[in-house]
Amino acid sequence: MLKIENLSVHYGMIQAVKDVSFEVKEGEIVSLIGANGAGKTTILRTISGLNHPSKGTITFEGTQIQKKAPRKIVAQGISQVPEGRHVFSGLTVLENLEMGAYLRKDSEMQKDYEHIYEKFPILKERLNQDASTLSGGEQQMLAMGRALMSKPRLLLLDEPSMGLAPIFIQEIFNIIQEIQKQGTTVLLIEQNAKMALSIADRGYVLETGKVVLSGTGQELLESEEVKKAYLGG
Ligand SMILES: Nc1ncnc2c1ncn2[C@@H]1O[C@H](COP(=O)(O)OP(=O)(O)OP(=O)(O)O)[C@@H](O)[C@H]1O
Ligand SMILES: [Mg+2]
Repeated sequence: MLKIENLSVHYGMIQAVKDVSFEVKEGEIVSLIGANGAGKTTILRTISGLNHPSKGTITFEGTQIQKKAPRKIVAQGISQVPEGRHVFSGLTVLENLEMGAYLRKDSEMQKDYEHIYEKFPILKERLNQDASTLSGGEQQMLAMGRALMSKPRLLLLDEPSMGLAPIFIQEIFNIIQEIQKQGTTVLLIEQNAKMALSIADRGYVLETGKVVLSGTGQELLESEEVKKAYLGG
């Protein structure tokens, strides 16, 4: 579904992503793990069209997208939940969800709002509240709900567990699995390697801009290198 080949991304003289290749097959959850500064967010933003690569290709469902504008990429079926959530403050919860649907004109929209409220009941209770007044965990749910309202075939998640209490983290990961079961493919970026690999079909380990290991989620969880570097021994 998504194929990244020999991707390099620079910020001026700094090369943040170095010749990275990986793929995501339809229906999978693929986790990309790595420490601070490894290049995870840069890769996600490049897939979304917010950064442009200095080299390499990004192919989504057979079409190269690495030169396209972000809104074209959303229209093609890729949606991103950015790092740190970024809900729109000054807009209500409902208005935030509506922003997610802004490119849609179909008649299924009402049904999809109902699906979002089933997944995240707290959002339904807070529809008219300013999004910035939600708790961190609630904002994560809103950001995910907003991304889902664009009906993506591929959902990109940038550290959904960041800053959340364990009970919220468990809930967010359960919901990610539910999203997969309902037919959406997921590329998940996480520092929480244990959780991310335990729900992943496959994973890749990124170190200073390079892919250094790959395998099934289970293989990576059991790998000595991953245990040492990311799972605390
Ligand atoms: N706008 C920018 N200008 C210059 N350098 C940048 C910019 N954004 C990121 N970088 C650099 O690129 C490298 C990769 O950053 P990136 O945000 O992709 O890492 P990350 O893996 O998402 O890290 P984290 O887990 O801390 O979020 C870092 O060294 C960072 O300092
Ligand atoms: Mg990041």
